[in-house]
Amino acid sequence: MLEKVKETTAYIRSKVTVEPEVGIILGTGLGGLTKDIKNQEVLDYGDIPNFPVSTVEGHHGRLIFGDLGGKKVVAMQGRFHFYEGYDMKEVTFPVRVMKYLGVKNLFVSNASGGVNPDFEIGDLMIINDHINLLPNPLIGPNDKEFGPRFPDMSQPYDYKLIALAQDIAKKNGINTQIGCYVGTTGPTFETPKEYQYFRIIGGDTVGMSTVPEVIVARQMGLPVFAISIITDLGVPGKIVEITHEEVQKVGKEAERKMTLIMEEMLQNL
Ligand code: HPA
Repeated sequence: MLEKVKETTAYIRSKVTVEPEVGIILGTGLGGLTKDIKNQEVLDYGDIPNFPVSTVEGHHGRLIFGDLGGKKVVAMQGRFHFYEGYDMKEVTFPVRVMKYLGVKNLFVSNASGGVNPDFEIGDLMIINDHINLLPNPLIGPNDKEFGPRFPDMSQPYDYKLIALAQDIAKKNGINTQIGCYVGTTGPTFETPKEYQYFRIIGGDTVGMSTVPEVIVARQMGLPVFAISIITDLGVPGKIVEITHEEVQKVGKEAERKMTLIMEEMLQNL
C-alpha cells in the first residue's frame, strides 16, 4: 500500500501546485465549505490513480486544493464509506495520501444521530472521543513508515484544536455540544434499542464514518479536529422515521456555523 500512496501523491504533485498544510474531509451535505476555498485547483476522484470513486447521493467526489482562512488546504468533497462496499484500506486511503502531501492537521465533519437526551436536531457536536464499531482499518500487515503497529489512542481528538474551536464558537455566539461519536457500519439507521445501546456504552452520537479516518490519521501522528452535525435523534420519545434526504437537509442548515468555526480555526492555526 505504501507504494500506491506514494504513486498517488506523486501524481497529485504533478497536477497541483498547492502544497496543503491542512486536510479537510467533508461529510454528507457539508461540501459547501469548499465554495469559500480561493484559488482552487480541483481533481476528480475518478482521475486520481488508486483512488476509489464515491457513489452516494450528496457526495461529489473531488479533491479541492486552495486557500482557506489564510492556509493552504486540501478538501475532500465526498468521502468513502465502508457500507458502500469499499474495504477499510480504501476508505482510509485518502488520509494517507493527505499525510504524504504534507498536511499537518486533519479537520473532519460528518452528520450523525444524537443519542444524548440533551441534544437537539441541528446541534453541532465537537467530537472528543469515539467508540469504533467498524473493522479496524489497521488490521493486516503494517508498514512501519506509516506508524506504529499498536498506535496510542489516548488523545484521538486534539485538545488544543478542541479548545480553539470552543473559543471561536463562543465568540461568535454559536452553541456547541461536545462528546463521543460511535462509528458503525450502517447502512441501516438504528433501531430504538440500538440507539439505547449506544447511549449506554458511552456514546453521544452515532454515525457511519469518521472513525476509520481518525484511526489512520492518529497512527501517522496527524492531530485531528472533528465536528458532527446532529441530523436526527435516537432518544426515546424523540425517535422519528428518517431518510437520507432529511439528513442532508438538516446538514445544510447547520453547515454555515460549522464552516465559520473551521475557517476561523484555520486563521488561528
Ligand atoms: N445513525 C447513523 N448514522 C447517521 C444517523 C443516525 O441516526 N444520522 C446521520 N447519520
